[in-house]
Amino acid sequence: MNEYYAHLTAHNDKITASTGTRPQFFIRTYGCQMNSRDSEKLSALLTQLGYAEADSQETADLVLYNTCCVRESAENKIFGHLSRLKNIKETTHPGMIIAVGGCMSQQPEIAETFSKSHSYVNIVFGTMNRHRLPQFIWSVIENGKQIIDITEDDDLPELDSVPVTTRDYPHKAGVNIMYGCDNYCSYCIVPYVRGRERSRPAADILHEVTALVADGVKEIMLLGQNVNSYGKGMDISFPELLRQINNVPGLKRIRFMTSHPKDFSDELIAAMAESSNVCKAVHLPLQAGSTRILEDMNRHYTQAQYLDLARRLQEAMPDVALSTDIIVGYPGETDDDFEATLEVVRQVRFASAFTFIYSKRSGTPAATRTDLVPRKVSAERFERLTGTLYPIMDEINQRKVGNVLPVMVEEANGDTAKGRTDDNTLVHFDTVDKVITPGEIIPVRIETAKTFYVSGVIA
Ligand code: 5AD
Ligand code: SF4
Repeated sequence: MNEYYAHLTAHNDKITASTGTRPQFFIRTYGCQMNSRDSEKLSALLTQLGYAEADSQETADLVLYNTCCVRESAENKIFGHLSRLKNIKETTHPGMIIAVGGCMSQQPEIAETFSKSHSYVNIVFGTMNRHRLPQFIWSVIENGKQIIDITEDDDLPELDSVPVTTRDYPHKAGVNIMYGCDNYCSYCIVPYVRGRERSRPAADILHEVTALVADGVKEIMLLGQNVNSYGKGMDISFPELLRQINNVPGLKRIRFMTSHPKDFSDELIAAMAESSNVCKAVHLPLQAGSTRILEDMNRHYTQAQYLDLARRLQEAMPDVALSTDIIVGYPGETDDDFEATLEVVRQVRFASAFTFIYSKRSGTPAATRTDLVPRKVSAERFERLTGTLYPIMDEINQRKVGNVLPVMVEEANGDTAKGRTDDNTLVHFDTVDKVITPGEIIPVRIETAKTFYVSGVIA
C-alpha cells in the first residue's frame, strides 16, 4: 500500500457515496496465461481500490487492455478495438480512463505511436510497471496528462497477493515463478519485451501458494516463459521447487507451463513422477520437427533429442499427456522439413496442440528473411498438420471410454458439469442430480469421446 492507493480509494469511495454506485472497471486480456493471471490480479487490485467490475466496456469508467505482441496481426486488431473505444469515449463517456498495458505497449515504437497519435489513451505501461497502476490512475485523475511508463525494472515486484475473488475459476490459480526469456528463438518477440530471465524467490512462491490454498484454491499452474530454467544462479532448481510445492497441504493438483525441451532434465522427470500432486501432463513446444529448421530457429535441440525426451517422459509416466506448439511455414521450410514435423507428431502422439502458421514479427531475426513460404503452401501444410494431429487426439480420447477417471470439477450447472482429468482432458458429465462444487475431485465413467473432449456420468 502507498499514498496512491489511499488517494484513489478515498476518491472512489466519495464517488460511491454521492452516486450510489461504485466506479466501474473493465479489463480485456489478450495472449498467454501469464497475462490472464496478471489480469486476475489487476482486477482484484482495482476492486480493492473501490472499483466494481463492469458488464461491458461501454459503461466502464476505467478500461484496461492487457496486451500481447506475439503476432503482429493481433496488435493491429488491438488498435482496431481501441479506435472503437475512442469513439465511445468521445460520444458517450468523456470521463473514461483508457489504459493499455503488457507486451504490446512495452515496445518503444508502439509506446511512441500512443504518445504521438493516440492521446485518448491515458495510460501506457509495459510488462514491468503494472504494480504502479494506482499511481498512474491517480495522476490521470489529478492532472489529465497522458502517462507512458515502459521503463525496465530488473526487480519486478509481484502484484500484492490480495484474496483473489475475481478469478475465472475459484478453485484454480496461476502463480508466476519466473519472468522473461533468454532463449531468443529466431521468430519470437518475447525476449525483447519480457527481458532477461528472473526467478522469484522460492519462499515468496510458497507463501503465495499457501495463501491461495487457504483461499480455497485446489489447483495451481506455475507460470513462466521457460519454467524449467527456474532458479538459474540461485540455490534451488525447478525440480526442487516442484517437490516443495508438492508438500503444501490442501493443494491437490500442480501444473506448470511452458517448458523448453532443451532444459527438461531427467531430474525433473523424476520429480514429476514421484510427486503425487504434480499432474502428469507436459506442454512441450516442438515448433518444428526438422533438425535443420530447429537449428535455424535457435531451439538448441534436434529432432532425435526431442523424440528421446518424449520417450523418456512416456517411460517414466506411462499415462503422461504431452501437448505442444507447432509452427508451419517457417522461412525456408521445404516439404521434407514439414514431413519431419509430421513424423514427430506421429511418433509422439500429442494429446493436444496449438498450431500456428508462421507470421513475420518485426524486431526478430527471422523478420529479415526473404525465403518466405507462400501463403497457399503454409495453409495446405497447416491442414495436413491438423489432419495428422486430430485423428491421434481422437484415438487417445477413445481409449478412455469405459474407464472411471478422477475429474476435478470446474463448473456445475444443474445436472451437467465439466471438469478436467489429471492429464488435462476436458470432461463433460452428468451429475445425476448430485450436488458438486468446483475444485472437488469425483470419479466419472467415460462413455463417449470426441477429438477435443470426452463425456460421461458420475460413477
Ligand atoms: N509466428 C508464428 N507463431 C509464433 N509463435 C511465436 N512467435 C511466432 C511467430 N512469429 C508461437 C510459438 C510459441 C507460441 C506461444 O506462439 O509456437 O510457442
Ligand atoms: Fe519465445 Fe523461444 Fe522464449 Fe518461448 S522460448 S518465449 S518461443 S524466445
